[in-house]
Amino acid sequence: MSHDRAMVFGATGFTGGLVCATLRRLGVPFAVAGRRRQEVEEVRERFGAEHAVVADPAAPATLAGLFGGRERVLISCAGPFLRCGWPVVEAAVEAGVHYLDTTGEQPFIRMVADQLGGAALAKGSTVVCGMAMEFAVGDWAAQLAMRRAHMKRFEEVVVAYSLTGGGVSHGTALSIFEMFARPAWSWERGRYKKRTAGYARRRIPFPFGERTCLWAPFGEIVYLARRGTVDSAATYLRITGPAAEIFRWSGVVGRPLKPLLRPLVAAWVAAQPAHPSPSQRRASRFTIVAGADGSRVVTSGSDSYGLTAEIIAAGAQHLLSNDAPRGVRSPATIGLAPRKTLSSVGVMVE
Ligand SMILES: NC(=O)c1ccc[n+]([C@@H]2O[C@H](COP(=O)([O-])OP(=O)(O)OC[C@H]3O[C@@H](n4cnc5c(N)ncnc54)[C@H](OP(=O)(O)O)[C@@H]3O)[C@@H](O)[C@H]2O)c1
Repeated sequence: MSHDRAMVFGATGFTGGLVCATLRRLGVPFAVAGRRRQEVEEVRERFGAEHAVVADPAAPATLAGLFGGRERVLISCAGPFLRCGWPVVEAAVEAGVHYLDTTGEQPFIRMVADQLGGAALAKGSTVVCGMAMEFAVGDWAAQLAMRRAHMKRFEEVVVAYSLTGGGVSHGTALSIFEMFARPAWSWERGRYKKRTAGYARRRIPFPFGERTCLWAPFGEIVYLARRGTVDSAATYLRITGPAAEIFRWSGVVGRPLKPLLRPLVAAWVAAQPAHPSPSQRRASRFTIVAGADGSRVVTSGSDSYGLTAEIIAAGAQHLLSNDAPRGVRSPATIGLAPRKTLSSVGVMVE
């Protein structure tokens, strides 16, 4: 490990805190940042971070402070990313620092891929959006399914999620609403098409039986589209619990009614617990199935939040210690071995 360190932006949030705890456990040097001074100082003390910085995307000049020391990787956990993420990733690329984030918002991932790829290459940064349970596990699973198929081109790659149990944090609930209430992208016969969450249904064979899933705008679509070897890519979701309600509201009526719904959703979210309890986290389960023209890989595990912290910390450790490929990349294309990494973070692969 070099003397370089990671900077965690959004360290005051639930996921940011888990990321700090994981970096500390792994012995990765890190600093913390957020927009509220007192909370950022508290987080620095709680996790023994080396340094604390106050920076606010609403005042982009303050973001320069994120790269004032030995920062080599910026980990952004501040979301919704469509609301506050852009100035942060732009500032990281401008500073020539690597960037990883926890976004689950596919339009944000596409925006970064389309607009910052050239600058990231020129500045020598590796930029990875969605280095989290969503969508790193699905990206690795798709990569394994494609390798298993031994083909050069793929007619269709499908990634389907089954999520059960568990609760969500305020940030996640707001991000789900942001993501599902606006049009996003599907990849169909070599082109992006604008689609809204839930526009299509499909029966997906999971290990526990076939289930109906709704089309969901997930990041793997952008990752797969950028490979240049996949004609069509689709992502589906089977979901239960409170997040399913947000999915239904926002997917079905969210787009036309979004301006009216936003304050109602914000009030509903504020009335929920700020983050899932330890028992909810333990009870949560995911199964992610990736299919590539007949070849199939199944991954499964629990506690999406803890897993996200493990995945993004592993990514930061990798970028601090290795010469990874530069530019805007997907989680599966920065040189981490999929099987080994998935098992090291506690995900089962079949
Ligand atoms: N892809 C995945 O699998 C995955 C997994 C976990 C989390 N996530 C995503 O990660 C993000 C954070 O989740 P969380 O669980 O940590 O939520 P959270 O506990 O509500 O924390 C949200 C964080 O974002 C910061 N933030 C929010 N709005 C901001 C703004 N306008 N400017 C600057 N900072 C802002 C908050 O700062 P303050 O403390 O100052 O409010 C806080 O640090 C969400 O977008 C969530 O969807 C994704």
